This record gives sequence, structure tokens and C-alpha cells, in this order.
Amino acid sequence: MDPEQAAHWSPRKKRPRQRSASVASAPHDIRFQDLVLFILEKKMGSTRRAFLMELARRKGFRVENELSDSVTHIVAENNSGSDVMKWLQGQNIQASSELELLDVSWLIECMGAGKPVEMTGRHQLVVSDVHGSRQNPGPKPVRKIAKLEGVWRTFCLPGFILQDAFDILAENCEFRENEASCVEFMRAASVLKSLPFPIISVKDTEGIPWLGGKVKCVIEEIIEDGESSEVKALLNDERYKSFKLFTSVFGVGLKTAERWFRMGFRTLSTVKLDKSLTFTRMQKAGFLHYEDLVSCVTRAEAEAVSVLVQQAVVAFLPDALVSMTGGFRRGKKIGHDVDFLITSPEATEEEEQQLLHKVTNFWEQKGLLLYCDHVESTFEKCKLPSRKVDALDHFQKCFLILKLYRERVDSVKSSQQEGKGWKAIRVDLVMCPYECRAFALLGWTGSRQFERDLRRYATHERKMRLDNHALYDKTKVKVVFFFPLKLARVFLKAESEEEIFAHLGLEYIEPLERNA
Ligand code: CTP
Ligand code: MN
Ligand code: MN
Repeated sequence: MDPEQAAHWSPRKKRPRQRSASVASAPHDIRFQDLVLFILEKKMGSTRRAFLMELARRKGFRVENELSDSVTHIVAENNSGSDVMKWLQGQNIQASSELELLDVSWLIECMGAGKPVEMTGRHQLVVSDVHGSRQNPGPKPVRKIAKLEGVWRTFCLPGFILQDAFDILAENCEFRENEASCVEFMRAASVLKSLPFPIISVKDTEGIPWLGGKVKCVIEEIIEDGESSEVKALLNDERYKSFKLFTSVFGVGLKTAERWFRMGFRTLSTVKLDKSLTFTRMQKAGFLHYEDLVSCVTRAEAEAVSVLVQQAVVAFLPDALVSMTGGFRRGKKIGHDVDFLITSPEATEEEEQQLLHKVTNFWEQKGLLLYCDHVESTFEKCKLPSRKVDALDHFQKCFLILKLYRERVDSVKSSQQEGKGWKAIRVDLVMCPYECRAFALLGWTGSRQFERDLRRYATHERKMRLDNHALYDKTKVKVVFFFPLKLARVFLKAESEEEIFAHLGLEYIEPLERNA
């Protein structure tokens, strides 16, 4: 496609349905291997089907675009079991008795629960005797209109659809570098995640922070129509889908995604094969280990990496303290990488600077280092914490891809392991001076949204400034020399995260509570 044409592409333009549904949806981690879903488009419509497919994939379900032998569950809406059987026969498919025919209400309950829920008679579709090659699971009321309304209400009730809608809207704003709206939608998603009650009507949003303006309009639309037209359009939007796909490659940021999109690329395979493009070392590693890196890191894998890191670090610096940070410290079950903070009370500056290099050299010799990017420290003592809520820190760090052998994760399964026997895992290591460790731990535990909000709170409510290195009280100065009179800034020291919260006048917030 001509780049200009691509730049002026309008989301309303129709594409062949098959393509839009199958190509550019970024892979999601499959959490429930035993289930293979197929969602029937008949009577459901293509947009709602695409919406539900994306939602289910985001929740870790395997959803096929096409009906195949591997499908275990067919999900339909406004169809009886007989309708589905008729459709299957029309496709020349003989359904086995193991194939589950389910109403969309089952899928929606699974979405709410975040996992497969038990299939009961109320979910299973009735097949009349005419199509009697299958057993009827039991009586089931078919009240199409009432059921349809019921479905939409279930859709609205737990708030999950709202929160997913705002995650998608925020992501799109991020792709369009519209920071203000991105933060607005991310906040809305966070608030909705933390609400103890469901949003059933617009009235329920009154008095809740961050649910005004644009956010309120979206909520209104979802409550009234069951879905947001903007989200629906996005899930079919070429730009959104391409950006999501391209940025899923390690080393591809918004600029590169934009360039590839403008050049007319829509799939990773065409990007990879194009001779005119050059890739950074990071992107080459990203393509090489793509499948491993997009399938999320599990907690068991993170624990196995932790043992690797711990062993290597203490071999060179026996008094070093290694903490797992990031999403896993916040109790997340899966992550895109594993983050570690390393510090040592006794190390000299030189030992401190050398450690990450020694550790990565050690892994390289063992053949475990698949990618490594060292960033040296630019840390200066007594430097004022940054004014920007998103400022990067100045610690020495390295961004890695490590080879994690399966037997390190699960020794029982390893003997039956097929394939290459290892998985590429993204790992971030950060080395910080001992006196900064509490600030670094707080900063690297995240979530990003939590850090932003905490920093904003420090600045606006406490007239302080907080970042990954220090906390500084703007209202206080101290006299350091009697003559000539010299004033110095007051940095508030902290040995632990608890002390930082206390300085800020806040109750301690556990890492598990920092996800929103
Ligand atoms: N962080 C930071 N400076 C960076 C990168 C990250 O301060 N240059 C902090 C952020 O606050 C972030 C945390 O470190 O919350 C971990 O970053 P990241 O691994 O990107 O996110 P996670 O929260 O761990 O989520 P994921 O599971 O996707 O890895
Ligand atoms: Mn992480
Ligand atoms: Mn990270």
C-alpha cells in the first residue's frame, strides 16, 4: 500500500472479514490448554464475535478462527443446540459426542471469573431428537429475547467488560501518543478493577473519581447498548491491530511500528522477509525468540530465573541482596519479564559497577545469554528527584534474554519434554547503591500507574518529590555551613518502603495492593 494512502486510512473502511479476524491479533498467553473454543458467528454478528474472541484470548482462552478437529467447545448466541447441529451439518461436519455446544452465557461467566466455569444445564444447548446423534444434556429454557437481555446485563454487571474496554482505549491512545487520554482511560480501568460493587447504571459512577467526561460517555454506551462502538471499531481497526502486533516484538517501539504501518506492512512475516528493512540487534533477538517472548512468563518460570540470578550474583558478591520486583512482587501470576533489584551493603563502587558485567559474562560462557544490553549508571548523589512522573532512573541495569532450561522449572516433566527443552525469558537486572534500595524497590515494584499516582501525590499533596532514587522535601532546607551561610536540600532517608510511606504521611500499601 502506498504510504500516503496508509496514513489516510479510515477505520470505517471495510476489509475482508476473514483477514481482519485472523491475521493481526497479537498472540496472548494460553492459560487453559484443555479447551479450544470456536465462536459461531451465525445470529451473533461478526463484530460481536470478534469482540468476544479478543476478550476470551486476552483472558487466556484458546479461540480458533476456523472450525477444526481441535475444537472442543462451540459457543453460540441465540441458537438452540439443533440450530448449531444444523449449521454443522451444513458445513459437512459430524459433531462428536464430546463436542460441547454452549450458550454464550457460559463464555461470559468464564470471562467474569477469569477462568473456565463449570458447564451446567443452563449453559448447554438443547439438541432436539431430529438431530439425535447427540445426547441432550438436559432441559433448558429457550427465551431468546429475555435471555439476550440477561446476557447483556451479565455483561455489564461485574464491570469486567468496562475495564477491558478502557484497557483497549488506553492502549490505542498510547499508540497514538495521546498521553492525556491514555492516562484518563488507564485510571478508569484501574478504578473499575478496584470497585467493590458492580456498575449497573450510570448513577453508580457518581462520586467515583476518574469516571467523568469521556469515560462516562463510554460507560453510558456500554450500559445502554451492551458494548462500546469505539472499542468495537478499534478491534477491527487496521492501525490498532498493526501497532499491537508490531509492538509485541521486543525492541519495536511506537516509532518503528508507525514506520512499518505507513510502509503498508500488516503482518510480522512480511516485515521479517522484507529486504529493504534493517533491524536493530534488539529487534533481531525479538524476532528470533518471538514465540517464547509473547507467551508470558509464569510464576514457576520466574522462580526458576530467580534461583539462576541469586546463584550468579552471590558467586561474585556474597553479601548482595537480590529482590524480585515488578509484577511478580505484586503477586501477578504471569508477566512479560522478570525484574530484579540487586544491592550490596559492603561492595566498593568498583565492585558494584562490575557485578552485572561479571554475571552476564558468566551466563554467556554457560551459553545461557541470548541477548544483553548494559546501561551504565548515571547516578549522582544529592541530585534532585525528577519532576516528571515517568522519568527513567539513573541506576546501572541490563535488559536480557536468558535461556531457561525446562528442567529448572519442572524436573518431573523434563524427561517427557518435547521440542528445544528451553524457553527464552526476558529479564531486567537493576543494581542500586545500598542507601537507595528502599526507593529503588518501591520504584521497580510498580505498577507504573501506582508509581505515577504516588509521585503525583508526593508533589501536589506533600510538596515533596519522589523518584526511584530519593525523596526530597521542598518545604525544608537545612543550614550546612555557619559562615558563609549555605542552605542544603533535605533528603528524607529511608531504610524500607514502610518508611517512605510514613514520610509521605500514608499508610503502608502492600505490593499486592499496588496493581491498580
Ligand atoms: N520501571 C522503572 N523504570 C524503567 C522500567 C520500569 O522504574 N525503566 C518500573 C515501573 O514502575 C514498573 C516496574 O519497574 O512498574 C516493572 O516494570 P515492567 O517489567 O515493565 O512492568 P511490570 O509491572 O513488571 O509488568 P510485566 O508483568 O508486564 O513485566
Ligand atoms: Mn516486569
Ligand atoms: Mn521489566
